[in-house]
Amino acid sequence: MITFKDYYNNEVKLSFDDHPFSKEPKHVWVICKYKGKWLLTKHRERGLEFPGGKVEEGETARDAAVREVMEETGGNVQEISYIGQYRVDGRKDIVVKNVYFAVVDQLIEQETYYETEGPVLLNFIPNRVKQMKKYSFIMKDGVLENCMDYLRHYQVR
Ligand code: GTP
Repeated sequence: MITFKDYYNNEVKLSFDDHPFSKEPKHVWVICKYKGKWLLTKHRERGLEFPGGKVEEGETARDAAVREVMEETGGNVQEISYIGQYRVDGRKDIVVKNVYFAVVDQLIEQETYYETEGPVLLNFIPNRVKQMKKYSFIMKDGVLENCMDYLRHYQVR
């Protein structure tokens, strides 16, 4: 278990164990790759981030992850694997999110990308993300760097 503070000074706990905080998390976040590049979305308010969102009624977290990637980037998920889970103790609520790694095999243009401007492909994620205004706050805590280390270590990517 790794503990740190996020961009808003909320406490975050991250673990690579099997669903340590909730068996039925209400949120998902998906680190995506397409043709060797990172696939992000540009949220209209928050800026650049990996896609994700809320699990809907009657849906599994994995289904939500696949759906959110399509809705926010047009990406068709070919493979997806669970990486870990994190818990944010926010001022109002506690948010529990599953993190996945997904390989996308096709980008299909969508009529709407919902609250985002659609797909953004990057060759690399800069080390200075935390100082860069165009990146979303959800890219600015220890979740991203620890998940990237995890993926590198297990050579998933
Ligand atoms: P809506 O209900 O969609 O309008 O959103 P909301 O902003 O109330 O969001 P949500 O329930 O997703 O999150 C509540 C709070 O938890 C946010 O305002 C953030 O402070 C925090 N939070 C949500 N997701 C993350 C995340 O991925 N990382 C971090 N560090 N904090 C998050």
